[in-house]
Amino acid sequence: MSKADYDLIISGGRVIDPALGFGKEADVFVKDGKIAQVSTETDKTEKYAAKMPPECVIDASGSLVVPGLIDMHVHLREPGREDKETIITGCQAAAAGGFTTVCCMPNTDPVIDNQETVKFVLSRAEEADANVFVIGAVTKMSKGEELAEIGDLVKAGAVAISDDGHFVQNPDIMRRALEYARMFGIPVISHAEDKYLSAGAIMNESFQSTRLGLKGSPSVAEVIAVVRDIKLAEFTGSRVHIAHVSTAGAVKAIRDAKAEGIHVTAEATPHHFTLTDEEIGKEFNTNLRVNPPLRTKRDVEEVIRGLVDGTIDCIASDHAPHAEEEKDVEFDQAPPGLIGLETTLGLVKTQLIDKGYLNWADAIRKMTYNPARILKLPGGTLEIGSTADITVIDPEKRWTVSETKFRSKSKNSPFIGWKLKGKVDCTILAGRVVYQNK
Ligand code: DOR
Repeated sequence: MSKADYDLIISGGRVIDPALGFGKEADVFVKDGKIAQVSTETDKTEKYAAKMPPECVIDASGSLVVPGLIDMHVHLREPGREDKETIITGCQAAAAGGFTTVCCMPNTDPVIDNQETVKFVLSRAEEADANVFVIGAVTKMSKGEELAEIGDLVKAGAVAISDDGHFVQNPDIMRRALEYARMFGIPVISHAEDKYLSAGAIMNESFQSTRLGLKGSPSVAEVIAVVRDIKLAEFTGSRVHIAHVSTAGAVKAIRDAKAEGIHVTAEATPHHFTLTDEEIGKEFNTNLRVNPPLRTKRDVEEVIRGLVDGTIDCIASDHAPHAEEEKDVEFDQAPPGLIGLETTLGLVKTQLIDKGYLNWADAIRKMTYNPARILKLPGGTLEIGSTADITVIDPEKRWTVSETKFRSKSKNSPFIGWKLKGKVDCTILAGRVVYQNK
């Protein structure tokens, strides 16, 4: 083959592709934005590499080469709150965090509950540094009162529906949503939180909320909602995906339901497998205000156990940017949410892999193949012929989370100042380098 046969070679890294069960040192060849070859014949690679311009050969020795990471739960804030994030800046943050695909939640302004808004987001995303898939709303304006035009949303490109930020409190509406979703082959993503039990809550209901005098949301608010949605999924034969699992009770309910063959999947966020509500009283850092709230040590342990035993399928950031002035207020006045796209990988390595809970292949599966399978997205693999979305990770790189380095427009991370291990070296979108750590 002549040198023109390849556009990019990523050489010498340990290639991990959980979808193919592949995990060894190999070279990845890219041509026309697609994976052309994954080869273990390194001596042949050197010959090709010698003929190519140096910028087209990425030396990944000592690094991991994995399918581009997929974050199935982010808030990009456009349309409506471009001061917090835009599709462009959110995707720059995604690229810096190693994500080549993000799925954006519909709680924008206007809410993504109609075809025009889906199309608007998708058209804005054409120029972005990540693939963007849209999650449409379950109900009009996510008010929980009237179903959105689900068929129209799917036709425009929505890959799932969710009223994320709000629980679909009316079980009849949720039942109908699940039935429509089944017809269209998509899951309903549940923000599981009984509104009556959690009304007015600022944090988790626990010893800590009593100590701090802040109204708490009891864990049962999540558990009841999860159990209801599991029962509705069973009844309708539809697929429900539980977002940001935060309680031991929810993990158990999902584990039991899976054992019964009910079509339920779930995700956990880095903050829910890392932080407890004890952190809040230390400095009342408003970046610790999040929904669902940070829970107890036991909940964190059970979320991790759920990740380990496969009860929880995916790791998602729930990247929720908020403006500095909105967070620079009393704890109970701050909007819930924290940014996560740029810290997820480091927290996965530091909190889960280094502590012996997950190996790299399991962790990568939860950030590639599993979300792709649940949402029927392309990608999540380095199979020959697939789009060359690739993440190169330096697994041992130590770094400190710094506010000034975030690509995101917002800086509301409780992890600023944390020392993490594991950093993205390079993110490649359809064969194009969209991020390189310098
Ligand atoms: O903390 C949260 N922030 N939880 C949600 O469900 C919504 C999100 C947001 O949009 O800010």
